[in-house]
Amino acid sequence: FNVPVAVNEPVKGYAPGSKERAELLATYKTMFHSNIDVPMHINGKEIRTGNTKNITPPHDHQHVVGQYHTADKSHINEAIETALAARQAWSSVSWMERASIFLKAAELLAGPYRAKMNAATMIAQSKNVHQAEIDAACEMIDFFRFNVQYMTDIFKDQPASAPGIWNRVEYRPLEGFVYAISPFNFTSIAANLPASAALMGNVVVWKPSDHQAYSAQVIVDLFKEAGLPDGVINVVYGDPVMITDTCLSSPDFSGLHFTGSTYVFKELWKQIGTNIHTYKTYPRIVGETGGKDFIWAHNSANPLQVATAITRGAFEYQGQKCSAASRAYIPASIWADVRTHLEKQTSELKMGSPEDPSNFINAVIHEGSFDKIAKYIDAAKADNDADVIIGGNYDKSKGYFIEPTVILAKSPTFSTMTTELFGPVMTIYVYEDEAWEASLKLVDESTEYALTGAIFSTDRYIVEKASKALENAAGNFYINDKPTGAVVGQQPFGGARASGTNDKAGSAQNLLRWTSVRLIKETF
Ligand code: ALA
Repeated sequence: FNVPVAVNEPVKGYAPGSKERAELLATYKTMFHSNIDVPMHINGKEIRTGNTKNITPPHDHQHVVGQYHTADKSHINEAIETALAARQAWSSVSWMERASIFLKAAELLAGPYRAKMNAATMIAQSKNVHQAEIDAACEMIDFFRFNVQYMTDIFKDQPASAPGIWNRVEYRPLEGFVYAISPFNFTSIAANLPASAALMGNVVVWKPSDHQAYSAQVIVDLFKEAGLPDGVINVVYGDPVMITDTCLSSPDFSGLHFTGSTYVFKELWKQIGTNIHTYKTYPRIVGETGGKDFIWAHNSANPLQVATAITRGAFEYQGQKCSAASRAYIPASIWADVRTHLEKQTSELKMGSPEDPSNFINAVIHEGSFDKIAKYIDAAKADNDADVIIGGNYDKSKGYFIEPTVILAKSPTFSTMTTELFGPVMTIYVYEDEAWEASLKLVDESTEYALTGAIFSTDRYIVEKASKALENAAGNFYINDKPTGAVVGQQPFGGARASGTNDKAGSAQNLLRWTSVRLIKETF
């Protein structure tokens, strides 16, 4: 089990005037005008159906970057059959071969694929240079490297034996195929959903988000060049209901690896329950779903630190990280200071296309999302129970741009305090200092979610009380730090309650879900 020690990929700075910035922006320009044609991938073959949809950058929605091809039911059946046919060979490939493929993918991405992966993410998912780099480059590389290490950690877990008896376990892939559904917001998560199952010897039907088709194509190229055999990961696009119905009605469906909305995940779970008698095995169900992530501050907290956590935690990537903070509870005695810092910090955030790296804020992902967020901002403007104190303007004439917006809610149950918006909107409730314990109860009970959360205090007693009061309120819980930016190998990521099954992405625990363990007892 001697594999390379996993280390985090260093984040490149892309400083003005640097070679890496020039290379990335040149790649962006070329790819922006490439008119890319994204096929589906079944058994390693490029499938072009002619039923295409356009890829348009959220920050420039009239510009067509290219198209992706969509499936009908026969393609999904073919993808399933292909995966099952590939399973025979792939499940008997040695774990070392599988590991080498993903370690090679990590090195290719650290080198020649880095600019392409980042540029695709900047163009079609509207991420700025830094946000693309920490996601599409570093986090993806880290997933590949650390998962290899976690896999071997799992293999080391073996039962005791005795003289004349050898007990051992084999961590076998699931008997069937895994269906992976990935979101638009992280290219790394999108790659990891099929890749983690494949690393453990599984075959996959992968449906990336439509809004991620460009970077998904770069991921496919990367895996191919790294040596992943045909048919192990099959990529399909199209009507999500048809694709899901087809996958979930196959008797060989053996696992769902999902990141997306709570509603959809629960519907899929129900569907799997309905079909349970048709499956050969009990399917594994692993999901990371919605969130309404919080920041809670005590009056012992440093106001500047709290404001910075809000600015970065709520507005990086336009608040579209699953981990993004979108509600905050601030004590009255430090609110004026926090507000002053927030006003200053947010006034410095430039908004525009990711092609200009000085733009911190880019566009939200699509018109539906833009309209929903704008509707909630307007409702807050019109409601006596809330004031829009920062931002609140939006414009979709060229791209889906929404200013970083802060709403001050007079009630802790105001709509934007409890509804997941997935946009650059932070709602703040100011509580009386002495009611800090009651405010913790509000944090815990106001929503059904438990993905991330952060508390701020310099008082150990308060830190301990708050940690205890919120012990089930966040799968990833941060003390005196923003709730975003989990690093693979350091903070395994996942939520509880309605936020997911909490099988942490980037952990041995997640990889174990993609195995079916055979215990072997041999007597001599
Ligand atoms: N790794 C991402 C974050 O923590 C999801 O922000």
